[in-house]
Formats: sequence, structure tokens, C-alpha cells
Amino acid sequence: MGRLDDKVAVVTGAGRGIGRDIALLMASEGAKVVVNDLGGNTDGTGTTNIADDVVAEIRAAGGEAVSNTASVAEVAGGQSLVATAVDAFGGMDILVNNAGILRDVTIFKMEESQWDAVLAVHLKGHYCCSRPFAQYIREHNRTGCRIINFSSVSGLYGNFGQANYGAAKAGIAGFSRVLALELAKYGCTVNTISPGALTRMTIPLRENRGESVGDQELEQGGPQHVAPIVAWLATEEAGGITSEIFHSGRGGVGIMQQPRVIKQYKKRDGLWSLDELDNIVPDLVSARQENLAAADTDNTIEI
Ligand SMILES: NC(=O)c1ccc[n+]([C@@H]2O[C@H](COP(=O)([O-])OP(=O)(O)OC[C@H]3O[C@@H](n4cnc5c(N)ncnc54)[C@H](O)[C@@H]3O)[C@@H](O)[C@H]2O)c1
Repeated sequence: MGRLDDKVAVVTGAGRGIGRDIALLMASEGAKVVVNDLGGNTDGTGTTNIADDVVAEIRAAGGEAVSNTASVAEVAGGQSLVATAVDAFGGMDILVNNAGILRDVTIFKMEESQWDAVLAVHLKGHYCCSRPFAQYIREHNRTGCRIINFSSVSGLYGNFGQANYGAAKAGIAGFSRVLALELAKYGCTVNTISPGALTRMTIPLRENRGESVGDQELEQGGPQHVAPIVAWLATEEAGGITSEIFHSGRGGVGIMQQPRVIKQYKKRDGLWSLDELDNIVPDLVSARQENLAAADTDNTIEI
């Protein structure tokens, strides 16, 4: 018996990388899987049919899957995902918004097309796929569904040369918190993943630093290390967990901080003068540094 028997999952960008491993693992746990991928280059250009290869892999292992090659960046593409799941498997329970591209460049040189393309696939892509699924959940009163979104430390911490990608990935974290509230009534959880994995998206960065990526590195840091927490969040046992951000990769699975006011001063009467702020702001900044230092202390538990 699988942990996802009788569930129907849609995994976007599942033709390779992290999405492929999620699709394979969910299928091995009994889910019927819609493998979505338009088979583009890392920068989002081009198309090839790689979704069918993953479908063939799943079927060869005894699982059930169908492919969908629509773009998540288009409203019609997102709608086609729900339609494919319903036509092929009679319903939909799980959406993994994993598809992604990169167009790295600093703000000095970032063209509108580079900004738009990255925001379209990541942030708008999450909207395009989640909205029809949310409508389907409400219309059919389908309880116990799951949405698992993909953010990144690039958006949550910040990363040089990725203002477009970082903005989209931070936006996805905010989007997820709102969806978690809006879908709670239907028992649908919405969680976010901050992954770290050696894929075609990250291997070139390592190689540019002169680090090799061989079989051993892929075994220790490949996308297979991200798939288990994603599949687990889709299980019945994860029903009470929503609006969280999990960081995962290289054998690690952790939970991330989310924005909260750490410390504040309140003035009962009148407005703050700029002279008063000269004293207060440095104290607030050191409270934030202490908070960060506490979170950055080695909090890893080796098992
Ligand atoms: N690899 C990492 O360390 C890392 C780190 C942080 C975040 N992420 C995020 O994890 C997700 C998966 O990344 P990956 O490393 O597996 O990348 P990848 O490039 O290996 O796979 C992404 C897949 O998405 C598909 N895709 C792109 N645009 C699409 C579209 N419009 N419609 C449908 N499919 C589309 C691509 O064809 C590709 O197969 C992405 O959202 C990425 O931003 C990855």
C-alpha cells in the first residue's frame, strides 16, 4: 500500500530535475501523476517533449501517469492541467508548482523581457495553476487537497544577480501564505519548499566556480533529496501542516523562519522625531542581528 494511493497529483516542470524526482516518488507511493513540462531551456526558450519520457519511466515501474506539455505561464496552460487530471484520472488532489527558469543579470543590465519572462513562469505560473485548482476544490467541495509551491533562498535571503528571480520567489512565499488562509476552509494545505539540488539550473554555477560535479556529488546533492519532503507534505499525515516553508536538500530537511516583528518601540503621544530615531533604529537593527545569529547557530541534528 502506498502513502498516496487513490490521489491524483499534478507536478509542473516534472520532465527533469527536482520535478521529475517528485513525480517518480509520488507515483511509487501510488499517486496517479500528470507530468507537466514544456521541455524548455534553462532560460525558458525552446520546447521539447520530455514529459513523455517521465511518463514512460513511471509506467515501466508499474505506476500511472499522463503527460501535459502546456506552459504554466499561461492561464490556459494552468486550466489544462486540471482538465488533464480530471479527464485522465477523474479528479485532482495535489498540485506541485515546481516549473522554473532563470535569466540572471544584475539590475543595471536587466531588460524588461528578462524581468517579465522570469516573473511569468514563477510568480504568474503559480497563479495560473493554483487558481483553476482552487476553483475546482471549491466547486466539488474536494477536501484534503494539497498545494506545494517552490520558493528559493534567492528570494528569501537575497542573491546577487537575481532581482527578477528573487522577486518572484519571495512573491511565491507571500502568495502561499495567503492561499493557505483562503483554502483552509476546504482542508487544503499550502506549503512552500526552498530546495537545494544539483540540477541543470545549479550545476553550471558550481562548474563556473571550478567545482566538479560527478556521480558522488549527484548522489549526495541531487534532486532526489528534495522529493521526500514534498511527497510527505502530500500525505494524510501532513493534514495539519500549512503555511510553512521547508528547506530541503543534500540530506537535510529544515523549517524556515517567516517574517515577524522582532522588537518595537511605541510612542504614546506624538510622532517620532528624526533625532529620536537616530537612537532607536540602531537598537532595532541589533535586535534583528541577534535574532539572525540565533537562527544561524548550528541547529542541525544528525541522524
Ligand atoms: N536546483 C536548486 O538548487 C533550486 C534552488 C532553489 C529553487 N529551485 C527551484 O526549484 C524548481 C525546480 O528547479 P530545478 O533545479 O529542477 O530546475 P530544472 O531546470 O532542472 O527543471 C525545471 C523544469 O521546468 C520546466 N519549465 C520551465 N518553464 C516551464 C513552463 N513555462 N511550463 C512548464 N514547464 C516549464 C523546464 O522545462 C524544466 O524541465 C524551480 O522552481 C527552481 O526555481 C531550485
